Amino acid sequence: MQKILDLISEEVKKAFEEAGYDAELGRVTLSNRPDLCEYQCNGAMAGAKKYHKAPLMIAQEVAEKLQESEVLSEVSAVAPGFLNMKVKEVFVRDYLRDMSNAEKFGFQTPESKKIIIDYGGPNVAKPLHVGHLRSGIIGESIKRICRYAGHEVIGDIHLGDWGLQMGLIITELQKRQPDLIYFDDSYEGEYPQEAPFTISELEEIYPTASAKSKEDEAYKADAMEATYKLQSGVRGYRALWDHIIAVSVADLKKNYANLNVEFDLWKGESDVHDIIPGMVEEMKKGGYAYESDGALVVDVKEETDTKEVPPCMILKSDGASLYNTTDLATIMDRMANFHPDEMIYLTDKRQDLYFEQVFRCARKTKLVNEDTELVHIGFGTMNGKDGKPFKTREGGVMRLENLIREINEEMIRKIQENAQTKGYEIDMEQAGETAKIVGLAAIKYGDLSNQASKDYIFDMDRFTSFEGDTGPYILYTIVRIKSILAKYEEQGGELTDTVIQEATNVSEKSLMLELAKYNTMMETACEEIAPHKICAYIYDLANAFNHFYHETKILTEEDGQKKAGWIALLALAKDVLETCIDLLGFSAPERM
Ligand code: ARG
Repeated sequence: MQKILDLISEEVKKAFEEAGYDAELGRVTLSNRPDLCEYQCNGAMAGAKKYHKAPLMIAQEVAEKLQESEVLSEVSAVAPGFLNMKVKEVFVRDYLRDMSNAEKFGFQTPESKKIIIDYGGPNVAKPLHVGHLRSGIIGESIKRICRYAGHEVIGDIHLGDWGLQMGLIITELQKRQPDLIYFDDSYEGEYPQEAPFTISELEEIYPTASAKSKEDEAYKADAMEATYKLQSGVRGYRALWDHIIAVSVADLKKNYANLNVEFDLWKGESDVHDIIPGMVEEMKKGGYAYESDGALVVDVKEETDTKEVPPCMILKSDGASLYNTTDLATIMDRMANFHPDEMIYLTDKRQDLYFEQVFRCARKTKLVNEDTELVHIGFGTMNGKDGKPFKTREGGVMRLENLIREINEEMIRKIQENAQTKGYEIDMEQAGETAKIVGLAAIKYGDLSNQASKDYIFDMDRFTSFEGDTGPYILYTIVRIKSILAKYEEQGGELTDTVIQEATNVSEKSLMLELAKYNTMMETACEEIAPHKICAYIYDLANAFNHFYHETKILTEEDGQKKAGWIALLALAKDVLETCIDLLGFSAPERM
């Protein structure tokens, strides 16, 4: 379907042309004075110079041509030369009827691409903390948006599973349980199926080991040695590593499932270990990689740089690979196995320069095709109310599980409070289930409604509120619509028999015009990979609906056709809202 702005623009362009002016001047935008009109066109101002005529005169001539329009009901030329317009009720009605019948509400999907999204990025054996939350939440939403736009999308978690942290864990295990069979170099039999630790032990082992290595040089050397032995394939170390991965991944899966975040691939840094030597060889042979202070590097600076872009390091002076190396090898691996047109990475924006180096290096060394798009979406920090990175009350790193628990508790309180003011009983078990769904919306909407690159303040009280620009408010609106639709059916109405009618008052028309913006909004959200545009839209849409709802007695309306028209309008609003929240990665409960 064409976007409503394009349809209106066509109408106005025609009028410009009929009045003897360039049709292109007739481009229409949303009104920035909604109190005066719904749409506006500033083309007369732009045409004034070219035609040596007062803009107001041009606007008047064009307005004259639009008097008989089937699209516009009111067109006025106002000083200094604006065209202020309102659209006909019947035109909006027809547009929404088409939207209701069209697939994806008539959203025209772009040309399909194959995209790999690299998000989540948790580190094995380290608990998930709120820092990983943003990558998971934003990545999941972007994945869904890209899929909705018709792209073929593969989501890859890209586990941090190969670095020094693995050596640290193994070292600490060896100190604690030196007799473990894994440390016996002469052992040739099968290793036990059962891991010699639980997830909670693992999560305690890592920070302990990490702290020790910072104070104790010898301990650190042991950990580096262990990392080296692991990476060079020592059997017992590999077997322990397998256990660490299995225990950790099982826990991660549980956590991500609670967040409604899913990955197609559970690959990690370790998966490209074997292809690194070949890649490095190619980089040397191609003349790209050279030695500098013992390390192997590739220059990636460009003449147009305004900031210093240091060389991309491929191997450290001891020959060990680093974060860059695995990312480059992963690019190579993805190109070979999936042939993507685009790769999108979601990490903290402090990695901006890092990805700039990696992308340039991948291009220069021809790991990717010339037209392969490499995109880094760097997001800001989630801060506490004090404006500093979010911490627990005690000042420690907030674990994701605890954050979710706190939100859920707050949500249960709000649900109880709401039931009390409305004077109805709630079933506590059901309230718990609802709190989970609404709590997730509170977290995700609170995050996604900000432009990704910006820092934001995690404000528990605001995020969980049923009022204002929040997830719970959006869900509350959906639940309200669902309840009206259900009551309509209880009264004997058939939802499938309803058809959208012409608006009969201002709030109804506003709601209709808000719905009609869907295609324009979705196109921008997809092009700009911007979930926050969807949030802004559904907030406006929810407001428009609630306005209409407070001014209209829907279920007691006597005129059957009018009532059915409203019901059809509500059904469309509900479908649009539900589609949008699904793209954001959450859903609505039946009741709240
Ligand atoms: N594991 C990394 C971290 O916790 C994030 C990985 C991001 N993805 C990537 N391809 N580098 O910082």
